Amino acid sequence: MAVDLLLGLQWGDEGKGKIVDVLTNNYNIIARFQGGPNAGHTLVFNGKKHVLHTIPSGIFHDDATNLVGNGVVIDPVIFKKELDKLEEQDVDYRKSLLISRKAHIILPTHRLLDAASEAAKGKAKIGSTLKGIGPTYMDKTGRNGIRVGDLELSDWKERYRALADKHESMIAYYDAKIEYDLNELEADFFAAVDVLKSLTFIDSEEYVYQAQKANKTILAEGAQGSLLDIDFGTYPFVTSSNTTAAGACTGLGVAPNQIGEVFGIFKAYTTRVGSGPFPTELFDDDGATMAKVGHEFGATTGRPRRCGWLDLVALKYACQVNGVTQLMMMKGDVLSGFETLKVCTAYKYKGETIKHLPYNIEPENVTPIYTDFKGWSEDLTGMSEASQLPDALNAYIQFLEKELETPITIVSVGPDRKQTIFRS
Ligand code: IMP
Repeated sequence: MAVDLLLGLQWGDEGKGKIVDVLTNNYNIIARFQGGPNAGHTLVFNGKKHVLHTIPSGIFHDDATNLVGNGVVIDPVIFKKELDKLEEQDVDYRKSLLISRKAHIILPTHRLLDAASEAAKGKAKIGSTLKGIGPTYMDKTGRNGIRVGDLELSDWKERYRALADKHESMIAYYDAKIEYDLNELEADFFAAVDVLKSLTFIDSEEYVYQAQKANKTILAEGAQGSLLDIDFGTYPFVTSSNTTAAGACTGLGVAPNQIGEVFGIFKAYTTRVGSGPFPTELFDDDGATMAKVGHEFGATTGRPRRCGWLDLVALKYACQVNGVTQLMMMKGDVLSGFETLKVCTAYKYKGETIKHLPYNIEPENVTPIYTDFKGWSEDLTGMSEASQLPDALNAYIQFLEKELETPITIVSVGPDRKQTIFRS
């Protein structure tokens, strides 16, 4: 059975957690394949909000198995906090949560290195979530990392010490004053590692292969968004993993010819948290309204998100690099009440009109060219059928489908599981 993928097509925070939760009934296994606790996947059901960082969004469904794949980086301390929250809600995760032995571990000193590196960058900082993601992936590709499977070895603490000592000398190298008490951080870390070690570690690529052979349905859950991809995103203002479809192959061990549907999630407008170019960013009342109505604050850091109009040039690019087969439009309800909506359909770039994403998209290089759409005033949040959607919204959707050459099969009209409209 092919593996389906679910990916964010913008700069993250598209609403992947909600849609995975909605789709989980169709899948036996939900698997995370990249990123780590920089992600914040929000799920709302029975009037309660749940935020997951590293644990896959199928965890609240009794019948789903949840796999943390080899491409993920795990901070045991944050992971333990997530488990504690699940326990408070009587979620029996022990039998439904599996962890790849090949996933890398975020050490306390990785977090410190992230902070030191960002502080040293000054104005050029990435705007990282400071969860140690970059330094951990650097150790992975530098072949220095500690993996989940290493925790089963008798000498893992010696390896830990050697790496942490090296990190400390690197922290000292940065011209940044980072205050920390490593003994305290390590006490939490080792306690959390013990909890992690009580979970089930597996050779996940073999597990996924056997599951496919046994016709199990698998959904790979992406984190962050395509424009934060280390290769195809707005480098260097990106995260340190491949957030695009190819990342699911390397992050789970799935062969490229075994990918089925590719679900691409996007917001009806655009947001970005952290630094980096954002051609359609708004600095006026429209942007402030989107932020306020859409509650645009980071689920992991609480930072306000930058808001702007939908950028079709960037969205088309994301559909292209991912091979998106179905689109899901989130937060259409936030746009209710705008008299006119704008969609960026091309860029002015070096005096020319272009419809593809160029190498540089900083404000001095590109100017968005907009197409206007009539807005709608209806409150969408109580709607449950496609037939209820206002004509102006249908016109907006149909335009996007035509431009992106891909059907929009879900329109989300609120954060709750129930506020989901399926379109045939
Ligand atoms: P890092 O991955 O924490 O190093 O952050 C790198 C960049 O990606 C920063 O601009 C972050 O704000 C952004 N970022 C990382 N994870 C997420 C996410 O889950 N949603 C939105 N932005 C993210």
